[in-house]
Amino acid sequence: MNNFAIVFCFALLSSCTPLKRNEKPIIGVLAQEVYSPQPQKTSYIAASYVKFLEAAGARVVPVMVNQTREEYKQLFNSINGILYPGGGVSINSSGYANAARIFYKLAIDAFSRGDYFPVWGTCLGFEELTYLTSGKMLLSHTNTSGVALPLIFTNESRESKLFNDFPVDVLNALATESITENSHIWSLTLESYNSNADLRQFYRVLTTNSDGKTEFVSTVEAYDYPIYGTQWHPEKNAFEWTRPYIPHSPLAVKTTFFMADFFVNEARKNFHKFEDEEAEKKALIYNYNPVYTGTKSAFEQLYFF
Ligand SMILES: *[C@@H]1O[C@H](CO)[C@@H](O)[C@H](O)[C@H]1NC(C)=O
Ligand SMILES: *[C@@H]1O[C@H](CO)[C@@H](O)[C@H](O)[C@H]1NC(C)=O
Ligand SMILES: *[C@@H]1O[C@H](CO)[C@@H](O)[C@H](O)[C@H]1NC(C)=O
Ligand SMILES: *[C@@H]1O[C@H](CO)[C@@H](O)[C@H](O)[C@H]1NC(C)=O
Repeated sequence: MNNFAIVFCFALLSSCTPLKRNEKPIIGVLAQEVYSPQPQKTSYIAASYVKFLEAAGARVVPVMVNQTREEYKQLFNSINGILYPGGGVSINSSGYANAARIFYKLAIDAFSRGDYFPVWGTCLGFEELTYLTSGKMLLSHTNTSGVALPLIFTNESRESKLFNDFPVDVLNALATESITENSHIWSLTLESYNSNADLRQFYRVLTTNSDGKTEFVSTVEAYDYPIYGTQWHPEKNAFEWTRPYIPHSPLAVKTTFFMADFFVNEARKNFHKFEDEEAEKKALIYNYNPVYTGTKSAFEQLYFF
């Protein structure tokens, strides 16, 4: 029996270590400045990002803009991952950009101490990651401001962490059906990626897309860090309805879930926690109410801060 256990362990190295998992992950979602500030409305988070993470078993804490470095550091040590959402602010000079830079640096430093802190960027968040990793504005204009596309998987995607546990039917649909929604005018072209050593060494390209003229990078994962980015919007398929080009087929909606499931599982590998239950309760997004904005914005519901 012991021999069998040893052999079994060799076969499944990772299952030998007792499985330690955080089953109550809390993930930060970064806020960003509103286009025209009003009292009580200086920054926002689209509710779809919150629902995206909640659907896969995480709770959410809003990460406000313009906090001090110390405040961000304390929050970093309290949460289990962070998501940089899409949006329209500057990736080099907004409150969003500042917070993203601080958390990115903290995540990288933590990793070298064996502290696994996952970071996810969607659309603007992905563009922000390219800026943080390269220190350069490397984006180009593309004609992609409202179009659903199938993903073009790279050969390297076969070794990816991100898509490893995806069901075959979802992967097939991703490769053949237009179920990934693009809402961006800026992209990292494949050419820019290939000509920047910092990006090439840091990120494995899992998928690309084209606007008919320009090939751009659409999904990445860092080789060595738990850092992930999609130029497309996995959260929209299940939770946004304001635009006719948002896909809602059963496999499109499953895509939302499996992307979130992957990232929340990454957050389950992190063991940061709040000082006490009181501090945790105070930080959670349940303290805020989303507002119905679907009649006048691209998002059904927004949290304003
Ligand atoms: C954050 O700070 C910047 C610059 O100091 C300011 O322009 C912006 O309005 C602030 N944002 C919020 C939401 O307070
Ligand atoms: C941000 O990027 C823009 C566009 O490349 C540039 O014009 C601007 O000077 C940059 N601002 C800062 C603060 O780096
Ligand atoms: C942009 O792409 C759309 C299809 O998504 C196409 O109908 C349109 O002609 C394109 N515009 C340009 C300027 O290429
Ligand atoms: C991907 O793999 C296929 C089959 O092994 C090969 O034919 C193709 O050249 C590879 N593509 C690239 C870009 O390496």
